Amino acid sequence: MAFSSILVTGGCGFIGANFVRLLLERGYNNVVVLDKLTYAGRLENLAGMGVPIVVGDIGNLELVRHIVEMNGIDLIVNFAAETHVDQSILNPFVFTETNVRGTHVLLEVAREKKIRFHHISTDEVYGTIEGDHHSLETDILAPRSPYSASKAAADLLVQSYFVTYGLQTTITRGSNNVGAYQFLEKVVPLFATNAMLDLPLPVYGDGLQMRDYTHVSDHCTGILAVLEKGSIGEIYNVGAGQEITNMAMLEVLLETLNKPRSLIRHVTDRAGHDRRYSVSVKKLEALGWKAQYAPKEAVAAAAKWYLENPTYWQPVRESSSFQAYYNRQYAKRLETV
Ligand code: NAD
Ligand code: TYD
Repeated sequence: MAFSSILVTGGCGFIGANFVRLLLERGYNNVVVLDKLTYAGRLENLAGMGVPIVVGDIGNLELVRHIVEMNGIDLIVNFAAETHVDQSILNPFVFTETNVRGTHVLLEVAREKKIRFHHISTDEVYGTIEGDHHSLETDILAPRSPYSASKAAADLLVQSYFVTYGLQTTITRGSNNVGAYQFLEKVVPLFATNAMLDLPLPVYGDGLQMRDYTHVSDHCTGILAVLEKGSIGEIYNVGAGQEITNMAMLEVLLETLNKPRSLIRHVTDRAGHDRRYSVSVKKLEALGWKAQYAPKEAVAAAAKWYLENPTYWQPVRESSSFQAYYNRQYAKRLETV
């Protein structure tokens, strides 16, 4: 085993929970989760896993230090973040608080305890990608939303701790993930559950924006490959390595759920909407990793999971907090079409 005791922050969120499950499957039995349980974090995501979960903020230095000391942690994997672009447009401050300052606190504890630090970043730090370019890990960062700007800032802090203090760091930059346990604000679970409820699917603008929809299991195996085989101080993109338009994603979703195209509504675009993300994953593939799902397969598998797990998402849809968000984000948009 490469690590004896692992702290996973944000482990009650979508990707963090899938990653904790992978760790357990691969025999990493000493795993501790630290999660604030924001609107996006759910204890159900780790139900029955037997993993200790500390409810708290990554920005609480004493708490993080205490967890690391008490559990003999030798690796922190940081998934904890505010993660939704639309939320970052509505309420940006919490993004700097958690994504930048929170990451900084974790780095300080890692430095103090001289332990490995792995940071989960995103392809959105590269900004919108022109022509047929595929982002390389060495490309300049050009984030354009409060969310991606906060993630880019965190990446730079991580790199600075590697250079300045010799901290054992790695970073992965994942593309759009889909799969089990994703919160309903993100496009695939939102559209899948809307379709099942025969509600309109609000497509921002012309829907020809491109995303590399990646199955969450591929992202998680990519992260583990970097932890076990990656080079210290390095950054690795993780994705299917090919992108499709949102309209193509939508077609797969409707077909999988056997729902009509008449549900599609083109609505007012997102402010500053990035047109295209695209990553080269050659550097990660050189470690022996390969994505198992093409984007359309990943979207179909995700839609099927929501179809088969209504008891997971129905309570979220019915919650007053989700309905308040949905109305704020979509009521006006859907009124005008
Ligand atoms: P998510 O929103 O589903 O989960 C985030 C988790 O972090 C939640 O459980 C939440 O409670 C927790 N959290 C938030 N603030 C916290 C704080 N201050 N202290 C402790 N816990 C806190 O997010 P996700 O989609 O699973 O994303 C996980 C990571 O992967 C994020 O860093 C995100 O930027 C990155 N990422 C996501 C995607 C994607 O498509 N979802 C793609 C690439 C990278
Ligand atoms: P999202 O899941 O929010 O991920 P990100 O913005 O981080 O890529 O959105 C994915 C794509 O879907 C993006 O191009 C925006 C688009 N989208 C819509 O068209 N309608 C929606 O209601 C949402 C949430 C997203």
